[in-house]
Amino acid sequence: METKQIKKQREYIEKVSKVNEGKVLKYYILTMGCKLNENDSEKIIGMVEKMGYSESKDINDADLYIINTCCVRENAEEKVFGKLGELKKIKEEKNIIIAIGGCMMQEEHITKKIKKSYPFVDVIFGTHTLHKLPEDIYKTITKREKIKDIIDIDGEIYEGIPVKRSNNRQASVTIMYGCNNFCSYCIVPYVRGRERSRKKDDILNEIKGLAKEGYKEITLLGQNVNSYNGENNYKFSNLLKDVDKIEGIEIIRFISPHPKDFTDDVIEAIQASKKISRLIHVPLQSGSTSILKTMNRKYTKEQYLNLINRIKTKIPDAVFSTDIIVGFPGETEKDFEDTLDVVRKVNFEQIFMFIYSRRLGTVADRMENQIPEEIKHKRFDRLKALFEGNIEQNNQKYVGTMQKVLVEGYSKNNPNMLTRKN
Ligand code: SAH
Ligand code: SF4
Ligand code: F3S
Repeated sequence: METKQIKKQREYIEKVSKVNEGKVLKYYILTMGCKLNENDSEKIIGMVEKMGYSESKDINDADLYIINTCCVRENAEEKVFGKLGELKKIKEEKNIIIAIGGCMMQEEHITKKIKKSYPFVDVIFGTHTLHKLPEDIYKTITKREKIKDIIDIDGEIYEGIPVKRSNNRQASVTIMYGCNNFCSYCIVPYVRGRERSRKKDDILNEIKGLAKEGYKEITLLGQNVNSYNGENNYKFSNLLKDVDKIEGIEIIRFISPHPKDFTDDVIEAIQASKKISRLIHVPLQSGSTSILKTMNRKYTKEQYLNLINRIKTKIPDAVFSTDIIVGFPGETEKDFEDTLDVVRKVNFEQIFMFIYSRRLGTVADRMENQIPEEIKHKRFDRLKALFEGNIEQNNQKYVGTMQKVLVEGYSKNNPNMLTRKN
């Protein structure tokens, strides 16, 4: 259901498009971070296209520039400042609007730095004010004022924001926002607010609409999808069962579940479905029970391995992908060996590997036993070598089998091959 605030923003969209009438205007957008941010950018694009801007892939040829930022690791932040440097030069030569938003803007030290060192930025918006972009852009166009539109709240849900999807077969659908887990290394709960779940009917209607438009694959998104909490005790497993019934959708995926909340009803819902992908993402982070404890993950190495076994017992063809952080404060050689041990035991199909990055304001940043960069990098390389050494052998199980895949067109490099876009 469209909220009152979104109705008001639709009026601003109209106002901006009136101001822009008759002009050929383009936007350039840079999206960083996770799928939730990509989904947010689809909403940003939905709004700006309705305001009369069309997409430019050329950084030198646009009138409105938008950066949707991520701050989960330090390197994402560095990239943003590099980009702002480039935009400064463009702005010196022509009259452009620069809007910067997303997770990084929820950090006070960052917005202070932007105000001080990058004063040419026109609009700064946060994760809780994304829906107000039309109003912010209207004000900056008509009054030429600089806007900082950040609020620090637990968060709300806005339905009815225009969306322009980046793909016409595969769509991401956010089912819950925010996170309550406060893993000690992670900035996300500070910048995305508390957990809040969309109403089941809003989610199901969105997916039914996508199915009608011809979408085949849906990814349900949230920082902790299995703590989805709809009204009247409607849980994640109920949602999976209902999405499974939607005709036309053939593949269902979800990211990310938290191992501590991966309950049997969810496993059973996957087992009963022919559409839910057998590649299940189960973020490990570390294989060491003592590191997991200081990470505030709330499971042990054994509980993680038990969960994998519980899933495999019910779903024998299940395979797994995961996230792993190396070099968390206090990680000893033995702790790291425990991570390698879990990697050997589970035989992951895919591992997203990260070097621990200190995040201001988190508990782990205040820990004294930080690991030297050199050791972190060496461990990262060892983990990578272990994983990559297993790929060929791991893939043998697919030789001679039939697998269902989503193809979206012919390969650019070879017109005789089918491929998927992303
Ligand atoms: N909510 C999701 C993922 C959030 S962020 C989950 O819990 O699985 C995606 C990944 O980034 C995390 O799983 C973690 O592996 C990694 N990450 C988060 N904070 C990090 C940090 N400070 N340093 C390095 N990696 C980090
Ligand atoms: Fe970060 Fe942990 Fe929340 Fe994932 S579950 S977003 S890692 S605090
Ligand atoms: Fe995603 Fe980065 Fe924000 S991982 S939630 S865009 S901090």
